[in-house]
Amino acid sequence: MSDSYKIKHHGVEECSNESGNPAFSAVLDARLSRRSVLQAGGAAGVAGLLPALVQAAPMSVKPAVLGFAPVPFSVEDRVVVPQGYVADVLYAWGDPVGIKGMSPVFKPDASNSAAEQEVQAGMHHDGMAFFPLPQGSQAAKHGLLAINHEYTDDGLLHSDGMKTWSGDKVKKAQAAVGVSVIEVEDAGKGRGWRVVRPSKYARRITANTRIAIGGPARGHALMQTEADPKGVEILGTFNNCANGKTPWGTYLTCEENFDGYFVNDSGTLSDNEKRYGIKNKDAGYKWAWEDFRFDLQINPNEANRFGWVVEIDPYDPKSKPVKRTALGRFKHEGATVTIAPDGRAVVYMGDDQRFEYIYKFVSKNRYQPKNRKANMNLLDEGTLYVARFDADGSGQWLPLVHGQNGVDAGAGFADQGEVAIKARMAADIVGATKMDRPEWIAVNPRVAGEVYCTLTNNSERGTEGKPGTDAANPRADNKFGHIIRWHEAGGNAAAASFKWDIFALAGKPDAAKSEHRGALKGDGFGSPDGLSFDAQGVLWVQTDVSTSTVNMKEYAGMGNNQMLAVIPQSGEFRRFLTGPNGCEITGISFTPDSKTLFINIQHPGEPESERSDPAKPTAVSSWPDGAASGRPRSATVVIRKLDGGVIGS
Ligand code: FEO
Ligand code: CA
Ligand code: CA
Ligand code: CA
Repeated sequence: MSDSYKIKHHGVEECSNESGNPAFSAVLDARLSRRSVLQAGGAAGVAGLLPALVQAAPMSVKPAVLGFAPVPFSVEDRVVVPQGYVADVLYAWGDPVGIKGMSPVFKPDASNSAAEQEVQAGMHHDGMAFFPLPQGSQAAKHGLLAINHEYTDDGLLHSDGMKTWSGDKVKKAQAAVGVSVIEVEDAGKGRGWRVVRPSKYARRITANTRIAIGGPARGHALMQTEADPKGVEILGTFNNCANGKTPWGTYLTCEENFDGYFVNDSGTLSDNEKRYGIKNKDAGYKWAWEDFRFDLQINPNEANRFGWVVEIDPYDPKSKPVKRTALGRFKHEGATVTIAPDGRAVVYMGDDQRFEYIYKFVSKNRYQPKNRKANMNLLDEGTLYVARFDADGSGQWLPLVHGQNGVDAGAGFADQGEVAIKARMAADIVGATKMDRPEWIAVNPRVAGEVYCTLTNNSERGTEGKPGTDAANPRADNKFGHIIRWHEAGGNAAAASFKWDIFALAGKPDAAKSEHRGALKGDGFGSPDGLSFDAQGVLWVQTDVSTSTVNMKEYAGMGNNQMLAVIPQSGEFRRFLTGPNGCEITGISFTPDSKTLFINIQHPGEPESERSDPAKPTAVSSWPDGAASGRPRSATVVIRKLDGGVIGS
């Protein structure tokens, strides 16, 4: 097995959507003038466009003001924050999660066993949420953090990387993904935050944790396996990308590029397998080589059991997580929850692959603020919708309901369970809009029904055989990405229609080439990914420029990945943070008083190949432990203002 073998961990190298629904020529023209301006590029064109891009969004209260001086682009191997702020590492890969009597120390040569990894922080921290302690309080100095561990860099995870391969290595990788729940507190007197160890809440959920199935796919024939003949319980969760947090105090972790863990070497892929990107054994993480659960010739339904949103109660370490199948199966980026005026829960979700869709789920029943238990299965019943962005600036939420709009037995869907399992294929039928890789979605707490979504990039838009530009995805070869915004009709998150506009086209405003400038005010960026509002109505944006592009090619001079703040009303982006070498910035969670911000540094030190060389693990970065350390480590970082003020103020 060659160590040069490359994993396509993000699954975006190809497009799995060959459906003929209109992403291109049919969805057009009312916005053609805007599009023409964009394609023409040029400073005058971009300047002329700006007012249209940033004017909407009336704020109902006085907007917040950004009080920090922006930081410049950086290639420093550290986290840079503005003057007056401090950034401390809290919880890095290999740190003990804090289970009593089980605190193996991290071994920098990666010689920790699979059993040790099971009670340590996983790799590749991603989405994250803070839960105050006690539950139901607004505590800002003590709480729980639920943290996703998206995937593994097996070049770092094992002492000799992937030079050899074994069942133990697969077990260690399976223990290094999933979720951590840790207890954290502000130690006071300016000492900053620490992980509480031991903690009765401390928990790791891995690729082998028992997880229940809820919603329409529970018990479905397509969910049944030899190990689970009733189709009611799944082992584990992995490729946990972004997240959501419910008002009833649970964590939603989202399974993104699950396809890379499965193989089908029969030479014949089903339509379902093709549509979700399953490949043969030359692709992926090599789990199937040692664990036949991931071999689809032996266990053909196992891949149907991944690609879901999983709900976890972080306050009860004994609780069994549940895969909420009513929210559909796709490559889930995040799951942003809001409550409609009538009390129904609404969940916004992106499917992060080129030419995939934006979805929302509206619950059947109402959220009950005073009865936590009554909300625990709220996400099992409701309606799943997918978005169509029309060229005139309006949009529709198209229901994915068995028996409606051609999603029926004639199209191969036996029932609603099958619609959920093959949600992408149902969305193709109803004519959803093919987007430029939908990542995070954020709901503006200050403007009812206003929602933002990062579309990170899509260099295949407009290339031969692929969809061309449309009003909502207006740039061919979209290397920098954009942020789209919509207003739900009547300010109601449960509405069936919306109005939309493009909030910003990312780029480098002073780039020599006009097509690289984008259309935005303030500091430049590209490949927006993490996105979240704080309680003040400031929108925070994090970037994930891939390591094969960062600070090179059209991104030359833009340095390492970064985090910016923007107040929608002004539309001016201001750079707040830059990360160490080879990382992406992700995970955004504030304490209820907005005075502590937790973020994640994912894969510091990742080389262009996206797999570290175990002979030179610190070739790109030695963050956070320094030059004498053995390996760079993904980590949660705590950011505070030295004067104790609100972050960003
Ligand atoms: Fe895991 Fe789409 O980022
Ligand atoms: Ca992401
Ligand atoms: Ca990304
Ligand atoms: Ca990344």
